[in-house]
Amino acid sequence: MPAIVLVGAQWGDEGKGKITDMLAEGVDMIVRYQGGANAGHTVVVDGEEYILHLLPSGVLYPDKLCAIGDGVVIDPKTLIEEIENIKKRGLPLENLRISGNAHVVMPYHKSLDALEEGLKGKHKIGTTGRGIGPCYVDKMARLGIRVRDIFDYEEFHGRLEHTLKYKNLILREIFKHDGYDAHTILEEYLEYGKYLKPFVSDTSYIIHQALRDEKFVLFEGAQGTLLDVSHGTYPYVTSSHPVAAGACVGAGIGPTKIDRVLGITKAYTTRVGEGPFPTELDGEIGEHLRAKGSEFGATTGRPRRTGWLDALLLRYSVRINGMNSLAMTKLDVLDEQKTIKVCVAYKVGDETITEFTTDFRKLVEAVPVYEELPGWQTSTSHVKDYRDLPQEAKNYIKYVESQIKAPISIISVGPGRSQTVILRKFV
Ligand code: IMP
Repeated sequence: MPAIVLVGAQWGDEGKGKITDMLAEGVDMIVRYQGGANAGHTVVVDGEEYILHLLPSGVLYPDKLCAIGDGVVIDPKTLIEEIENIKKRGLPLENLRISGNAHVVMPYHKSLDALEEGLKGKHKIGTTGRGIGPCYVDKMARLGIRVRDIFDYEEFHGRLEHTLKYKNLILREIFKHDGYDAHTILEEYLEYGKYLKPFVSDTSYIIHQALRDEKFVLFEGAQGTLLDVSHGTYPYVTSSHPVAAGACVGAGIGPTKIDRVLGITKAYTTRVGEGPFPTELDGEIGEHLRAKGSEFGATTGRPRRTGWLDALLLRYSVRINGMNSLAMTKLDVLDEQKTIKVCVAYKVGDETITEFTTDFRKLVEAVPVYEELPGWQTSTSHVKDYRDLPQEAKNYIKYVESQIKAPISIISVGPGRSQTVILRKFV
């Protein structure tokens, strides 16, 4: 039985939730390995919409084991609200496991996220404001509070007092903020700790056992490759490792345990927040993709920037993640287009670039060179079999495959579970 990593191939929001949900039926365990409540997975089951920020999409299947791994940063209030919400819908969540090593998003992380963005002025990242960056900063600075700490009064008290010495100095001296009182935080977070304690386990060990017992484990990435702190469009990135390799560190498994990597891409491109986006569309077509694709952030509600598919970016993503194949979502959003463009090179001054670069200055200047393909101008949202796709849609898929040097194994033509076309084996 395989261990599969499902990873976003662009700047996040590729529709990973739907694909995880679709695969979940056949898998035994689903693991989140990085990010936090900055993510937002929208899953539609029997016409009912679920927006999940921290819980793996597998929680919608009561018989699946779900884990939140060490590499995730947890806002306990958001997580508890999400758990309660799912329970209210009649799903018991008895199979949820949370790593005690996952770091906890504290109130000062959220304040610092907003204040630091304010200080950055025109260099702001456009974060989701969920305290994600400052929480990962504390993890690396060895000032973090972990899930296991918030149900141990002595440990929590000691660590918090120590961390607040630094945080309050920064908040008060630099930002003229009132700072935080340890006792107020302790009171609130110890309650969260009490609630979460029954879910806390050694998730790395549980995953290891599942793999040893030949169970099918799905590692569900959040965000996307181009938001990876090492391999993305730095500094306009998130603070974790959404790339497939992040699953090893974030879940506590060795690279030899991963069997396959499935990338998820939209049939076009979107991005939320600041940062370079060479194929961005400003006019009518961009508006149409936003409206038809409901391109508004699941976490912040911000309108997403929209653009044509970028073959350089996707080929890079295939390489960085070692993707075996890709799922292409939202093909139906392109149904009305007379012609469809795919970016095949960038012009940077006099230079023509045919491989993606994370060089910020080049990306800002990049003028896309497009290949233009005929559109199909007919609805695909009902299609369930590849043979029933219009020839122009098949040509588009084949063209993208030839550009990115990887096969497309799944096509999604709408948000529902049934609106999926399987092209070839992907597990
Ligand atoms: P942060 O993760 O909140 O620090 O935000 C850093 C950057 O990542 C910003 O551009 C966000 O818009 C972007 N980002 C974070 N999470 C997501 C996501 O789930 N989807 C898309 N963009 C995201």
